[in-house]
Amino acid sequence: MKIYKEKDYEALSQKAASIIASQVILKPECVLGLATGSSPVGTYRQLVEWYKKGILDFSQVTSVNLDEYKGLPKENDQSYYYFMHDHLFDHVNIKASYLPDGTKEDSDSECTRYEEQIRSLGGVDLQLLGLGHNGHIGFNEPADIFPDITHCVDLQESTIQANKRFFDSIDDVPRQAYTMGIGTIMRAKKILLVVNGEGKADTVRNAFFGPVTPQVPASILQFHPDVTLVADEAALSKCPL
Ligand code: GLP
Repeated sequence: MKIYKEKDYEALSQKAASIIASQVILKPECVLGLATGSSPVGTYRQLVEWYKKGILDFSQVTSVNLDEYKGLPKENDQSYYYFMHDHLFDHVNIKASYLPDGTKEDSDSECTRYEEQIRSLGGVDLQLLGLGHNGHIGFNEPADIFPDITHCVDLQESTIQANKRFFDSIDDVPRQAYTMGIGTIMRAKKILLVVNGEGKADTVRNAFFGPVTPQVPASILQFHPDVTLVADEAALSKCPL
């Protein structure tokens, strides 16, 4: 694994954006796997700035997102559809972008459809990831197994607590989500993980310097051949580097 230790959030966002920009420049028709959460916001801001300056062109790029809350319509400002449009898609010339459809009641058929969508695009060239406090990637929560393909998950209490800050009340936080599986993520050719803050320091150490276990879903990334971790000093402060 390649690890970039950056001094702060601004610097890590710049570094992550440059890695995505390199992918887009080297393969303009690439498929980007994208993520939500607060971690990649600065990365998206930088990409939008480079697009506006004419440095980057997304006209042949397609994207697939990691996950979506089950039950939230696109126009809900907490849906990941809304987040992605707000932070990136509405500001760049991306060719096409896909997310799971949270309004689809039938989990099996929606998850099968989404997995097939990714496959029909030829898979993901570069997958951007954040890291949950409990070690989740996408919405793959700690479990006894590593789920392979896109599936519906029951969110853990700790995830509901972590994400309640974005909602008016904890009762508004959806209890389920559709997420790419660990297998879907692992099939991406390249993985780019962005992590910041002292609050994630234990999780980063457990995920990348501890045993590979489905109780820490991100730990599986130790087996991926092309992972780049871009983190600030605080997030790496407990790693034996
Ligand atoms: C959410 C998302 C994840 C994200 C994680 C961390 O639960 N499903 O994809 O990585 O939260 O979020 P943050 O970056 O805000 O800490």
